[in-house]
Amino acid sequence: MSDTADRPLIAPSILSADFARLADEVAAVKGADWLHVDVMDNHFVPNLTLGLPVVQSLLGVTDIPMDCHLMIEDPGRWAPPYAEAGAHNVTFHAEATDDPVAVARDIRAAGAKAGLGIKPGTPLDPYLEILRSFDTLLVMSVEPGFGGQAFIPEVLDKVRAMRRLVDAGELRILIEIDGGINADTIEAAAEAGVDCFVAGSAVYGTADPAATVTALRERAAAVSPHLHLPR
Ligand code: DX5
Ligand code: ZN
Repeated sequence: MSDTADRPLIAPSILSADFARLADEVAAVKGADWLHVDVMDNHFVPNLTLGLPVVQSLLGVTDIPMDCHLMIEDPGRWAPPYAEAGAHNVTFHAEATDDPVAVARDIRAAGAKAGLGIKPGTPLDPYLEILRSFDTLLVMSVEPGFGGQAFIPEVLDKVRAMRRLVDAGELRILIEIDGGINADTIEAAAEAGVDCFVAGSAVYGTADPAATVTALRERAAAVSPHLHLPR
């Protein structure tokens, strides 16, 4: 079974949190739907963040379903342990492997949802055939690697195309967007048909992150036409 969204899901990204106080920062987004954890290896992207030991520790301090976004090379080797550790969803990048279906199979076999990430410049068409092997499509709306970048609106064409397929019953997959989501951009993404919105700086840059999560969800819900359609 794939996730279905009967309301917009908000996934705060701890990339913009204080890494010296991670448990507190996770507690600060109480009520979030998913906790988005960006794993970067300094090879697939020019930045380095955290890995499995930190994810394992975070899993011990929160019940929020964990959404691991692996911006790493060789996901076939490194992704399944995140599923085994107890992540809810494990997303890796289409650009990082020649055999995404095998990686998705291993993630699912280890007990997590499998997500396929695509960079802003990566077209959707070559992957349409394999999306049945996935539970989540993560559409990047900035170049992966850093928080706080400006939203790239052109990627919404890919979201609209996916939304049409899902609403037509041809695919059952959750559409997630990542990068530059804030109070100014979330409505356009919601209108295009996004189910799950990652937000890093927009959440952790505010005094009350939990209230910001709620406000973002309400903003998206007000303009999410697909959430009222049969899924
Ligand atoms: C970027 C990461 C994002 C990042 C988003 O490579 O995948 O999850 O945290 O940060 P904002 O919301 O600040 O663009
Ligand atoms: Zn991310």
